[in-house]
Amino acid sequence: MSSPTPKQRPKFVTEVPGPEARRVIADDERWVSQSYTRPYPFVVKRGSGAMLEDVDGNTFLDFNAGVAVCSTGHSHPEVVEAIKKQADEFLHICAADYYYPHLPALASKLEELAPGDHERRVHFGNSGAEAVEGCAKAAIYATGRNKFIGFYSAFHGRTFGALSFTTSKNVQRRGFGPQVLDVTHVPYPNCLRCPFGKKVETCNVECVKFIRDTVLETSVPAEDCAAIMMEPIQGEGGYIVPPQKAVDALAELAHEKNILIICDEVQSGMGRTGKMWASDHFGLVPDLFSTAKGIASGMPLSATVARKDLMNWHVGAHASTFGGNPVAIAAALKTIELLEGGLIENAAKQGEYLMEGLRRLQAKYSDHVIDVRGRGLMVGMEIVKTIDGMEPIPHERDRIVEEAFRRGLLIISCGSSSIRFSPPLVIDHDDVDFALEVVDASMAAVLNG
Ligand SMILES: Cc1ncc(COP(=O)(O)O)c(C=O)c1O
Repeated sequence: MSSPTPKQRPKFVTEVPGPEARRVIADDERWVSQSYTRPYPFVVKRGSGAMLEDVDGNTFLDFNAGVAVCSTGHSHPEVVEAIKKQADEFLHICAADYYYPHLPALASKLEELAPGDHERRVHFGNSGAEAVEGCAKAAIYATGRNKFIGFYSAFHGRTFGALSFTTSKNVQRRGFGPQVLDVTHVPYPNCLRCPFGKKVETCNVECVKFIRDTVLETSVPAEDCAAIMMEPIQGEGGYIVPPQKAVDALAELAHEKNILIICDEVQSGMGRTGKMWASDHFGLVPDLFSTAKGIASGMPLSATVARKDLMNWHVGAHASTFGGNPVAIAAALKTIELLEGGLIENAAKQGEYLMEGLRRLQAKYSDHVIDVRGRGLMVGMEIVKTIDGMEPIPHERDRIVEEAFRRGLLIISCGSSSIRFSPPLVIDHDDVDFALEVVDASMAAVLNG
C-alpha cells in the first residue's frame, strides 16, 4: 500500500519579502491609498485550499482567509467552476432594473437558513458595511424612529453610516466627525473585562441593566429607538463571546420595549462558528441581520436580511448597481452547498482542536495568556503583560503575528491585545498542529526573548 502523499507545508525559496514582493510593495506605496493596515509584507500570487504562495514562490499556511472570507479555501475548484459557468452566461444586468433567477434563489435560501422561522426579505449589496447600512435604513424606515444603541469595540464598517456604529479603534473615526447616525454606545458583554467590575459568578447582567435603567431612561427613549445593533460574537473588537444570560436579557429587553435587534453576522456568519450563524449559538432570532465576508468564498457580495414585514419600503428606496451580481451569487450558492455539505461541521471540529491546542499554550505561557475563546473557527487568544494587571501588550502581540509570518503562518490581530485565528473552514488537524507549532515558537521568541 502506498503511503499517503505528504502534506504540502510552508516553504521559503527566497528571503521574505523577496525581490518581487519588494517591487510590488514599492509600487503600492507610490500609487495605492496607504490607509490599509498591513501587518507584514505578504504579497500574494495564488492560493489553493488553506495554502497561499507569494509572488516570489514562498508558501504559507493561511489562518486568516482574507479576514474570514475564503470559507471554502482559496479558489475551491467547485466555486471556480460555478463562477466560470456563470461568467459564460452573463456578468451583469443590474438587479435595480431587471429580474434574474439568482436573486430569489439565494434570497429564499437565506430565509431557509436564517435563525427563527420568520418570513424574510433580502436586499443584496457588495460589502459588509453596505449590508449593515441596509439594516439601519430598513429599521429606520419600518419603525419611523432614528436612534440606535450600539456597542463599544464594535466593528461594522467604515462608510459613513456604518462608521456611526463602529467603535473598535479610534483610528477608524479620527478626523471623520460628526457621525451621521444617532448611535449611543454601551459596553459589550465582555466578562473578562467587565466594565461594571463583576466576575462571572457575581454577574447580574449589569451591562443590560445599564441599557434599561440609564440609557433608555436618559439619552435614548425607547419610543425613539429603532434598534440595537449587535455582533453576536464581537469580531474586530477581540473575538469576544458574550455570556448566554446577557444575550437573553438583551433580547428580553428589546422585546419588552419594542426595539428591533439587528445582528451583524458579517464576520461571524456563514458557518465560521460551527453553526450557520453566531446567533444560533444563543438561540437569538434577530429582526434583521447582515451577512457578507464568507458568503461567496471571496466574491464581493453581501445581504441585508430582514423580517418580511420590515422590508416593505417604497420602490426606489434602496438599491445598488452591483449588489447581487450574478457571478457572486453563483459563487454564494455553491459556497452554501459546500458549507452544508460538511464544512460547518469541520469548522466545529477543527475549532475545538485548535482551542485545545491554544489552551495548552495558555498553560505554557501562563504569565501572559489570559484567555482563549471563540466558537468554531472564530478563535481569539488574548495576551497581557501580567495576568493580575491584565495590561494589553499590542506591540508584543503584533510582533508575535509578524514572527508567525516569518515562519510561514498567516494570522492577524484583533482587539487591543488578541491574536485572531480565522482560517478557511477546509483545514484539518495537520494544519492546526502546524499553526500551533508556529504560534508556540513565535510566542517563545517574543515573550521569552
Ligand atoms: C462584523 C463586521 N461588520 C461589518 C464589516 C464591514 O465589512 P466590509 O469591510 O466588507 O465593509 C466587518 C469587516 O470586518 C465586520 O467584521
